[in-house]
Formats: sequence, structure tokens, C-alpha cells
Amino acid sequence: WPQVEAFQARPDDLLVATYPKSGTTWLSEILDMIYQDGDVEKCRRDAIFNRVPFLEMKAPQMPSGVELLEKTPSPRLVKTHLPIQLLPTSFQDKDCKVIYMARNPKDVVVSYYYFYQMAKMHPDPGTLGEFLETFMAGKVAYGSWYEHVRGWWEKKQEKQLLYLFYEDMKKDPQQEVQKILRFLGKEVAEETVARILHHTSFQEMRKNPAANYETMPTALMDHSLSPFLRKGISGDWKNHFTVAQNERFNQHYQEHMAGSDLRFQME
Ligand code: A3P
Repeated sequence: WPQVEAFQARPDDLLVATYPKSGTTWLSEILDMIYQDGDVEKCRRDAIFNRVPFLEMKAPQMPSGVELLEKTPSPRLVKTHLPIQLLPTSFQDKDCKVIYMARNPKDVVVSYYYFYQMAKMHPDPGTLGEFLETFMAGKVAYGSWYEHVRGWWEKKQEKQLLYLFYEDMKKDPQQEVQKILRFLGKEVAEETVARILHHTSFQEMRKNPAANYETMPTALMDHSLSPFLRKGISGDWKNHFTVAQNERFNQHYQEHMAGSDLRFQME
């Protein structure tokens, strides 16, 4: 943690911040494609977790996120799942741009449940019913989803933060990519945008070893239990929640989102 806390951001770093399972990899691939001016081959140069290093990651026998980032030439894309209050202060001091992506919590919890099973750094999640309780209590990796999305939302007044939603990206990826381009102050030819959209579609990313985490050691991620790019849809929670679980979740959601103007599309 001291290494992460003392991280030295550079002014041209772009921070990709999310709660886990909210479309981090998708957004990262889009951003790398933008940075490589739509060059698909350049985006195959390495696995996504090396192209967009994960700031606070530290796993046995692998370089830490901080070590990777120190070796990464500028302009860097930096991934984090940290809640805003734990973000190293250097990002603020250097006035770095941030893109935050949020996803509705019902789909997040389902995606997280499968991820807990395949990503072996996590404990056994138990049944989905049990995991729902753990999630609602904020006792999962990265803590309370509510605090995370609300904490970052409150920061969005600052012009350096673009707040996006997974559901909008699914509905109209072209519009969202244009939003990102405007935020970055980049102009890109129409055919480049089309190439970015094609290369970052779920179908393309799923079969791309540089984007689908297949190259991660099986001891860390076992894709035979559940692929990293699992379904890539909105509303999969409906295939998983019972009516009673949904009612309980809705009640909890209302209590924990009270007073906020942050809205999610669950349907
Ligand atoms: P599902 O488990 O619902 O399929 P993260 O990268 O933050 O860990 O998020 C992973 C989730 O994003 C997974 O959700 C994954 O399938 C989805 N995802 C990744 N790439 C995607 C894409 N190109 N289009 C849609 N969803 C994508």
C-alpha cells in the first residue's frame, strides 16, 4: 500500500476508474485504440493488463502495478478500482483526467459472482443468495458499491472527470466514444471510429487473447469455470435474481441511494 499511496502520477496520465465488473476492460480497450489511432495490430502488442496497468495490483510472481507503470512510457493509461477517498493524491495534484465507468449494481453483482469463482485471489462466494448479502453489506473486494459510485459521482463537477455508464455504452457505443473523444480533445476520422467500435465489440474482444485475459496464469484466473468476457449484456440479473431477492435488493438500493441524483438503468 505505501508504494501505491506514494505513486507519482504524470500530468498526461489518464486514469480509468471503476468499481469491479463495470466494464473496465472494455473502456480500457477503447482508450488504447484511441491512443493507437485505431491501429488494431498495435493494440495486440500485449495483454490488456500490461497495456493499461492496474495501479494497486500486486500478485505473486508478477510485477506490481506500480512497477509496471514506472516502466510505461507517457502518455499512460492507468487502471484503478480504488474508491475516490483512497486515490493517491498525486492524481489530483497533477490535475490528471479521469474517466469513471459505472454499471447498474444488479448486473455488477452477478458478474462479480462469476468472477469470484474464476479469479482465484477471491474466497469462495457461496451461493448467489449468500453473495448478494455479502455484496449488499459491502464485504466484497473494494467494499460498498454504493459508496464507490456515489463518491466518484460527487467529484464529477470537476471538469477533469468524465462519468460514463455501461448501459449507455451498450445502447449507443458510437455516441459514448464520441463523448470520450471530446473529453480527450481528440479528433478522429469516421472510419477510425468505426474500426474502434468493431474491435471493441464483445464478440471481437472475447476472441482476442490480448483483451480476454486468457494469457493470465490459470492459477490466478480459471476460464474453464467462467470466461472473463462472460455475457457482456445488460439485464442478465433477471436470469439470476429470485423475485424475493429482487425485492430485498430494491429496498436496500433505495435506502443506500437516498438523496443522490445518480440514476441507474436496470431494465
Ligand atoms: P459480464 O460478466 O456481465 O459478462 P470489468 O472489465 O470491469 O471486470 O468488467 C467485466 C464485465 O464487462 C463482464 O460482464 C464482461 O463480459 C463485460 N465486458 C467486457 N468487454 C465487453 C464489451 N466489449 N462489451 C460488453 N461488455 C463487455
